[in-house]
Amino acid sequence: MGILEELFDIKGKTALVTGAAGGIGACAAEVFCALGADVAIVDINREALEAQAAKMKDLAGTVRPFVCNLADESEVTGLRDELIKKPGYVDILINSHGIARRASADEISAEQFDVLLEVNLRSVFLLTAIIGRTMVKRGSGAIVNISSTAAHVSMPNNVNYAASKGGLEAMTRSFAGEWADRGVRVNAIAPGPCRTGFTETLYKQEQYVENLLKKIPRGEIAVPLDMVGPMLLLSTRAGINITGQTLIVDGGFTII
Ligand SMILES: NC(=O)c1ccc[n+]([C@@H]2O[C@H](COP(=O)([O-])OP(=O)(O)OC[C@H]3O[C@@H](n4cnc5c(N)ncnc54)[C@H](O)[C@@H]3O)[C@@H](O)[C@H]2O)c1
Repeated sequence: MGILEELFDIKGKTALVTGAAGGIGACAAEVFCALGADVAIVDINREALEAQAAKMKDLAGTVRPFVCNLADESEVTGLRDELIKKPGYVDILINSHGIARRASADEISAEQFDVLLEVNLRSVFLLTAIIGRTMVKRGSGAIVNISSTAAHVSMPNNVNYAASKGGLEAMTRSFAGEWADRGVRVNAIAPGPCRTGFTETLYKQEQYVENLLKKIPRGEIAVPLDMVGPMLLLSTRAGINITGQTLIVDGGFTII
């Protein structure tokens, strides 16, 4: 094996990718599987997940779909038990599920706040804890949580979303600190604007896109594949000395 293959080797690794029926998660699952990983794909959307599994069936690795509401602790425990039956472990966990429910600072209710925290933060805690502990037991693993630049800059109508992602990054650091000497790395990626189902409605508005592009030094809105290289770095030998970090992947959105 050449040094490049050794650094980014993912062939035969078991990866669990959440939110894999949509945008960034689906793209990561496809690339990992094309590189020979055995990928468990998880999502709450059964129909889209089955379509994604069908799309991936001829790739180099294997694919197994699991329909799961990740905000529900018993469902996440059930998912772990299924994965532990076969193959018995998870090498890589990518937490890419998430929702946004835009509401202005003048109007957002406590309920709208709670829903976001439950789906975007509590569920990532559940997965990181429940799957991460199996990694700790085995002495190896890499976890990548998908955050957002909303944790770093103020964006309109996003109080709840920003809080969930800020919490996710802080939690990532804390898990990483406790597990660093036990072979498990925990990092996050904070994407900037990216074209997925998540942002489709917003990006249909020409004026919105025009204004947004002025704020992205690279001059382009990202596509899901732009997030997958950084994920590969953080989940393979190449990123062995990186833990507890958030890698901002935003074309410069947060530097101006
Ligand atoms: N698209 C962007 O511009 C952008 C920017 C920054 C961060 N992000 C983050 O990237 C991640 C992926 O987002 P995306 O853009 O690919 O969106 P997406 O809507 O295309 O994919 C998200 C997936 O998560 C799934 N999901 C939602 N709630 C779930 C639950 N309770 N249990 C299981 N699955 C659930 C959805 O069904 C969907 O398939 C999210 O965490 C999002 O916050 C996206």
